[in-house]
Amino acid sequence: MAGVARGRLLSLDLSAVRAAPGVVAALASSDLRRPADTSPSLHDEPLLCDGRVQFLGQPLFLVIAESHRAARRAARLGRAEIAEETPVLTIEDALREGWRFEEGPRIWTRGDPDAALAAAPRRVRGQIRIGGQEHFYLEGQAALAIPSEGQMEVHSSTQHPSEVQHKVAEALGLAMSDVRVVVRRMGGGFGGKESQANALAVACAVAAEATGRPCRMRYDRDDDMMLTGKRHDFRIDYDAGFDEEGRLLAMVVTQSARCGWSADLSLAVCDRAMLHADNAYFIPHVRIVSHRLRTNTQSATAFRGFGGPQGMLGMERLLDHAAHQMGLDPVELRRRNFYAPPREAARSGPGTGARFGGLHSPPLSRPEENRTTPYGMEVTDFILHEMTEALLASSDHARRREAVREWNARHPVLKRGIAYSPVKFGISFTLTHLNQAGALVHVYRDGSVILNHGGTEMGQGLHRKVTQVAASRLGVPLSRVRITATDTGKVPNTSATAASSGADLNGMAVGAACDTLRERMARHLAALHQTEPEQVTFADGMVTVGRERITWEAAVEACYLGRVSLSATGFYATPDLEWDRIRGQGRPFYYFAYGCAVTEVVIDTLTGENRILRADILHDCGRSLNPALDIGQIEGGYVQGAGWLTTEELVWDDRGRLRTHAPSTYKIPAFADRPAQFNIALWNSENRAATIHRSKAVGEPPLMLGISAFLALSDACAACGPHWPDLQAPATPERILAAVRRARGEG
Ligand code: MTE
Ligand code: MOS
Repeated sequence: MAGVARGRLLSLDLSAVRAAPGVVAALASSDLRRPADTSPSLHDEPLLCDGRVQFLGQPLFLVIAESHRAARRAARLGRAEIAEETPVLTIEDALREGWRFEEGPRIWTRGDPDAALAAAPRRVRGQIRIGGQEHFYLEGQAALAIPSEGQMEVHSSTQHPSEVQHKVAEALGLAMSDVRVVVRRMGGGFGGKESQANALAVACAVAAEATGRPCRMRYDRDDDMMLTGKRHDFRIDYDAGFDEEGRLLAMVVTQSARCGWSADLSLAVCDRAMLHADNAYFIPHVRIVSHRLRTNTQSATAFRGFGGPQGMLGMERLLDHAAHQMGLDPVELRRRNFYAPPREAARSGPGTGARFGGLHSPPLSRPEENRTTPYGMEVTDFILHEMTEALLASSDHARRREAVREWNARHPVLKRGIAYSPVKFGISFTLTHLNQAGALVHVYRDGSVILNHGGTEMGQGLHRKVTQVAASRLGVPLSRVRITATDTGKVPNTSATAASSGADLNGMAVGAACDTLRERMARHLAALHQTEPEQVTFADGMVTVGRERITWEAAVEACYLGRVSLSATGFYATPDLEWDRIRGQGRPFYYFAYGCAVTEVVIDTLTGENRILRADILHDCGRSLNPALDIGQIEGGYVQGAGWLTTEELVWDDRGRLRTHAPSTYKIPAFADRPAQFNIALWNSENRAATIHRSKAVGEPPLMLGISAFLALSDACAACGPHWPDLQAPATPERILAAVRRARGEG
């Protein structure tokens, strides 16, 4: 690993490494048969340093040894001579040097924001710095490559097997058909294995090719944190104009993102940050400016929410700032700015959420036409009006807000805060062609079913959901259906399991494959029993053919004997998407997922220590495919989001060394950090878009409910004095103390 953040590699002496016990080979960039690149986008990520050192921790050479430990010991014996140069580390450094991944900033504009700002009766300006986040998947990055007959089989902990296949094929000069990638499951990914798994898989494949032997690699936790990309940290500058009642008239927001040394997925992440700069609110005149900055740090990458969280936090902070400055209730201010509800009544009211049934919609917040996002997409499914009223009622918000106020009046040292925040998250890959999926389903002669699809399992429960889809289509119990490891040899050209769309896309593809099988079987069984295919139904492990009822197993055997193909593929492509990312215009999303949360916290104004006392969440999963899994995603998402904005702090020193590269210094939430009271309910009304069983994607949106914890901490700081506390993220005890001082006007 390079020990400096920027420089030129003058020489590399690996003789001691090669002589070390257990070492089979050591490879530098110049030893590779062909240049190996691991980038998912711009071909700007050499596997090994090619002469230019671009971040502290960049790999310089590979050691292949008989054991993991022997390789680690030997690696320390490498001698690199590097001519150090002044690194570009911060957002300010990069803005000053003009280090970017696109010519200039990307800018989307609607209307005339400058004129509207100048004319606005009320004006709010500010800035928030938002830290990055380490994925901290419990299983670190790992890969295994097995050479055989000129081909390469790779087992990888990746969210994107087809991308690993592509990069390995490229590095070895093979056709994609000569590389097979298999993923049984990951011990967590969170976006950190969308592109970051490429490097290990390519390294293993290169080593396996060089030695003719299977080769395995895993990063030690510290190395994983030093080497791999994290969530982008952002600086957001906002300037907004309001009318006297707190309605947004105009907004100019500038998002500066630190992307690290290579492009990776940063352009798409920054696009999504822009796409969520509105969160749930209508803004008549708006300009969104995005700087994609290159720095000598780890290459920032996908992380649950994919830029959405940063964009949304910018907006929520702006509204809090406005409420404080204008002396308005923060919830009321948000209500006034919501997008308008759908024109016609919902297809169906809240389902099992009967406890929320009977609630009438509140009056329109804005005139009818206020449904269009800054990027020109009409919001036709906006349900946050009803959801908000239901959550405020179920969380007893009004009474508790009053109680917090009284409590604060009586307590000089401890202060409480409470905050509401909503989420509107766009579902679909913004790179439109990625919205496709395939599946392969086999039925064996004994009636057992095996299915394969393009998605990967990382703990989110995708395989379970997809199995449920197959079992319900074929009318068999869940126990009859097995799901294989994800395998590029079974379903080709898959998209990453990302953008929360795993169940949406693969569920539909599996459904299609099962429908094909069912149609073939129905045709044959109908002919056998002299009836019509429409008279054949599949349910509860039985097949009804006209007036006959036979077991699923007997039906399968009859079809086999009748020489009916019992294997089918399925395919799905999301309809109605159209997106021009340069102009920032179109319909990038198939639909939106919604949620809202109320969080109450307490801070200690002497130490900055703090705790989440209670969180209430109402989240929209459409018609839930699996409420237990969905609630799990909501709990985990909220805690991970709250962690991002509170305890999880990444610190680089002024030479670009990441100082927080182990759990000893980097604090993810522990069990004790869960809210003491944690109430989660599903808004069970069907998706208006025609998704699988009318469900909604759930993987990422709940992370942004954690924003309410940050806003509650800010509210607690604001209780300390009359001034705007200007809390920055993550809200560590130090930053909370600084905010308390600002609230008191002490600097
Ligand atoms: N849940 C668990 N337990 N582990 C994970 O790694 N990744 C998240 C989310 N939930 C993740 C998770 C991210 S970043 C995404 S995009 C989605 O799951 C991906 O899966 P899905 O599309 O099937 O929801
Ligand atoms: Mo998730 S960040 O889209 O892998």
